[in-house]
Order: sequence, then structure tokens, then C-alpha cells
Amino acid sequence: MKGILSIILTLILSLAFTSAGFAGTFDEKCAACHKPGDKPAPSKESLLKKYKNVSDLVKAAKASTNPMMKANQGNEDLLKNAAVDMGLK
Ligand code: HEC
Repeated sequence: MKGILSIILTLILSLAFTSAGFAGTFDEKCAACHKPGDKPAPSKESLLKKYKNVSDLVKAAKASTNPMMKANQGNEDLLKNAAVDMGLK
């Protein structure tokens, strides 16, 4: 009985972690503003044209003076995860 419980727990935990991990970070945390049409912020495609690697994107995100970026600028891990999620290296 204990064995089954721990298997179920592990499954739930690993599911929770996959959804909180890399995959989907951009869609979850950035795409609400960074969407097709570039309003209010450049879409993923536009960002990918401008920034060629993770550190360029993170730097640009931190350098933005737009108040809408305030909430995310202090969270370097989040920015990095989002950049990786976008396909940058
Ligand atoms: C609440 C809306 C909002 C969210 C959420 C948001 N951004 Fe932004 N972001 C903006 C706005 C607005 C700008 C300024 C766009 C401009 O200057 O034209 C911006 C600018 C940027 C820039 C600089 C773009 C440039 O070329 O000047 C980067 C890079 C960026 N954001 C990355 C991200 C990442 C990565 C996330 C998710 C972790 C994110 N943003 C979440 C609204 C948002």
C-alpha cells in the first residue's frame, strides 16, 4: 500500500514539475504581452530576430524601461528559462 502511494505521489510531483519547468515558460509568463502583432510588446518571432542568444535576450529584458517589464526584470532565472523556451541557447 505504501509503495503504491509513493508511486502516485511521485507521479503527481513530476507532473507538477514539468508544468512549472522550462516548457511553456514563455507562453505562461511572457506571451500575454509579447504576442503576434507586436503590441504592446514584440512577439516571440520579433524577439528572435533581434536577439540571438540567451544572454542577449536577458540583457535586453533587464534593460527595458517599460514599466510592464518591471515584474519580470528582477527574476533572471525566469528570463533565462523563457529565453531557452523560445529556442535560444
Ligand atoms: C505585462 C506585460 C509584459 C510581460 C508579462 C512581459 N513583457 Fe517583456 N516587454 C513588455 C513591454 C511593454 C516591453 C517594451 C516594448 C517596447 O519597448 O517596444 C517589453 C520589452 C521586453 C524586451 C526588450 C525588447 C526590445 O527589443 O526592446 C525583452 C527582451 C522582453 N520584454 C522579454 C520578456 C520576457 C522574456 C518575458 C517573460 C519572462 C516578458 N518580457 C514578459 C511587456 C511585457
